[in-house]
Amino acid sequence: MAIKREHWGSQIGFILAASGSAVGLGNIWKFPYVAGSNGGAAFVFIYIACIVLIGLPIILAEMVLGRKTQRNVVGAYRSLEKPTHSFIHYHRHFPNKEHPSQPYFPWFLAGGLGVISGFIILSFYSVVAGWTLAYIIEAASGTFTQFLDVDEAGAYFGEFVSKPVMPLLYHGLFMLASLGIVIKGIQNGIEKWNKILMPALFTILVLLLIRGLTLPGAQEGIAFFLKPDFSVVTWKTVLAALGQAFFTLSLGMGALITYGSYLSKKENIPHAAFMVVLFDTLVALVAGLAIFTAVFAMKLSPSAGPGLVFHTLPAVFNQMAGGYFFGILFFVLLFIAALTSSVSLLETIVAYFVDEKKWTRGKAVLLVGGIIFLTGIPASLSFGSLAGFKIALGKNYFDLLDHVVSNYFLPLGGLLIALFVGWSWGIKNAVAEIKNGNKNFPTANIWGFMIRYICPLAVAVILFAKFLGIDF
Ligand code: PFF
Repeated sequence: MAIKREHWGSQIGFILAASGSAVGLGNIWKFPYVAGSNGGAAFVFIYIACIVLIGLPIILAEMVLGRKTQRNVVGAYRSLEKPTHSFIHYHRHFPNKEHPSQPYFPWFLAGGLGVISGFIILSFYSVVAGWTLAYIIEAASGTFTQFLDVDEAGAYFGEFVSKPVMPLLYHGLFMLASLGIVIKGIQNGIEKWNKILMPALFTILVLLLIRGLTLPGAQEGIAFFLKPDFSVVTWKTVLAALGQAFFTLSLGMGALITYGSYLSKKENIPHAAFMVVLFDTLVALVAGLAIFTAVFAMKLSPSAGPGLVFHTLPAVFNQMAGGYFFGILFFVLLFIAALTSSVSLLETIVAYFVDEKKWTRGKAVLLVGGIIFLTGIPASLSFGSLAGFKIALGKNYFDLLDHVVSNYFLPLGGLLIALFVGWSWGIKNAVAEIKNGNKNFPTANIWGFMIRYICPLAVAVILFAKFLGIDF
């Protein structure tokens, strides 16, 4: 007996959940330091171009694929895959013309890549998310008041993450919070919590921005962030911006196919896609502004790298008026952002087991969550006892996972989605599906052109550059 698929309770519920997926550690932890170490404003401009030219078209493609098929990422491909003459010569592979419906390009493998990517991302994402939980407690218990400078804050952080037990405990707690939401399903779990958490996130962000902008010396931070100096732009900058665009929009692993699969036919997909991109970009920009105004006001370096948020900011909070309060708020913000993203990662995997393997939601959530907790253990220990243990490419477990998935799997997943929608399922079919909830789709031709040509080409360039070893 087929179980009826659950749907979002409202369009706004879907938009908030998809924005919750997009807005995450990528926006608040990663974006500021990547921008900071890639030249500031010039990077920001290129990043926005990538978001609009590549991110927006692919988001729309993922959502429409999900809604059309009402399936998880593997099922979505599987239910639409058909022989496509444009790729491999069909007749050479399947000379028996009696079976023209036999798929010869295994698109479902692209879906499998998405599920695997979700597993891997969540296992290290949850470790960093655990740190945010720990830092809410550190901020609230007044730890930051010990930090006279960034070095002290950095040493404290280094010691915390290198311990074997506490970071694992927080990783476990964070996973439990994610499981608790996903186990409740779409409307009572994911939608309900995003409707509470996302407005809270926007409110905290605005408070932090106001604090940042009103600090003496904030102008320098604003200038660093908004006045581009294109002379510092290199090929590496462009590539870093493209990679960041993928990660931040949750693209390339089917999270938005999965969320899209809970949409009913009446929803307006282009509007939702546009809103998600808008929110995600605004949050990254506002977080960047809030952070850089504070960093410059305290005369600290903007290019501190991955430690920017955990080393530099605690020292900043210690020096600023109201720092105790804003320190707590900041880490609550980071925690909320991480939680709503990790929920989407978990749901993408859970939906696969529920749809394809017919597991109950409870079984899928508990088993997948448990395995991810376990695979996260070496990721956490990568900052302690396993730090010197290089698995491959000169990287430890944590760095290797992040490197391989963010740099190869997500772009490859995005490339395959664009090719599938553009060339196999077809733009005509996709546009017809989009028009179900949105009679006018005036930019259909432009979108089709982007999905067929521009997106695959641009993403292929990222992958190609990486294989050539241009590092970013
Ligand atoms: N977009 C999230 C962030 O910016 O932190 C990360 C992410 C979530 C990536 C969900 C992929 C995904 F499916």
